[in-house]
Amino acid sequence: MALRMVDLIVKKRDGGVHTREEIEFFVQGYVRDEIPDYQASAWCMAVYFQGMTPEETAWLTEAMARSGEMLDLHDVAPFVVDKHSSGGVGDKTTLAVGPIVAAAGLPVGKMSGRGLAHTGGTLDKLESFRGFRTELTFSEFKRQLQEVGLVIAGPTHDLAPADKKLYALRDVTGTVPSVPLIAASIMSKKIATGSDAIVLDVKVGQGAFMKTLPEAERLAQLMVDIGVQLGRRMAAIISDMNQPLGRAVGNALEVKEALATLQGQGPADFTALVETVAGEMLRLGGVAATATEAGRRVTEVVASGAAWQKFREFVVAQGGDPAQVDNPDLLPQARWREPLPSPRSGYVAAIDAYAVGLVTMLLGGGRAKKGDPIDHAVGVVLHKKVGDWVEAGEPLCEIHANDPARLAEAKRRLLDAYAFQETPVSSPPLIHRILTGPSTSTQGVS
Ligand code: URA
Repeated sequence: MALRMVDLIVKKRDGGVHTREEIEFFVQGYVRDEIPDYQASAWCMAVYFQGMTPEETAWLTEAMARSGEMLDLHDVAPFVVDKHSSGGVGDKTTLAVGPIVAAAGLPVGKMSGRGLAHTGGTLDKLESFRGFRTELTFSEFKRQLQEVGLVIAGPTHDLAPADKKLYALRDVTGTVPSVPLIAASIMSKKIATGSDAIVLDVKVGQGAFMKTLPEAERLAQLMVDIGVQLGRRMAAIISDMNQPLGRAVGNALEVKEALATLQGQGPADFTALVETVAGEMLRLGGVAATATEAGRRVTEVVASGAAWQKFREFVVAQGGDPAQVDNPDLLPQARWREPLPSPRSGYVAAIDAYAVGLVTMLLGGGRAKKGDPIDHAVGVVLHKKVGDWVEAGEPLCEIHANDPARLAEAKRRLLDAYAFQETPVSSPPLIHRILTGPSTSTQGVS
């Protein structure tokens, strides 16, 4: 009997489990406009309440990945390793991890995105370099991957169009926060780019999409399971996003911090995350047998300058100005740089990452809507982080602004973003967990 969308909706509404054929029917029908938005919305809502089994989620992921072009990079790179962050504030990890992994001998060809809501995007950060091209053709992408071993650009194809359509629908039907739908959305794009191994950096906390550790663990484990089921090598790092990562938030400011990190002078928390993500990529890529060996390789390529050199080579290959790599003070600079004095003495108890992300947007460093221009120079550099002692009047952070009215508003909001207490505060763990294998559970996830 021919499948009907209404029967799929009823089945899921009542807690049923779909067959692979049913999932493919839905994805193909929806992409071809044969299934209307109202039926797709009802199905997403049924999934939101009833969840999906890991097997159903893997089928959904594969069907969405196959709804567009499936890229293959094996003619230029024998083994392709990718990383993905679920998005955070001050998250410039790709900028440091890419050159480290490439310098250690594993090619990195990464298709990245732009800033979303309060979080920054890798492409926007890279465009802080004069002349840097983020739009490459597929053949340019492959040539650079082969010749330089490192390329970071926007998607060269319309990858996973089913996800694009479904994500827009979920955004307006209250069905974004569903763990299986998020997992399928993220993984379908990763699978379509042709990676053999994927390291996921799943952020948890106020500034992240997943607010609690159990939620983040469920999402991370599900994505690992999907990847393994689809024949990929997988690892997931669950990292903290209750305060911004590192000290710099804002495009050029983050590029500067990534460059310092490639020279061994980055902030401790950011450096630790970079080493962990890069190490997992090297381990999955077979360059290192153990996490210890991977750590040694990472230290070597940073200490020798090879990672920094690789970054320079990559910027030049994509049309960027190497003078700005050699001297980061030539990157865009804001007209005003104002310290924000602490209103009191005490220990910093919390810094609301979400608020810092919104302040950076307010200063012009992010977009209110797609296509808006952004100001690469503006942002915030944190002098005090959670656990630090601050004297009254000492700078909590420095605000980089190009507009005096926005600067004044940023000061007000940043003061609210900081919380203090009298007694010492232990700084929160940066890395909560690393998942390196599939789970044994077959229970559904909602
Ligand atoms: N990021 C994605 O790509 N998809 C989601 O559903 C949520 C975050």
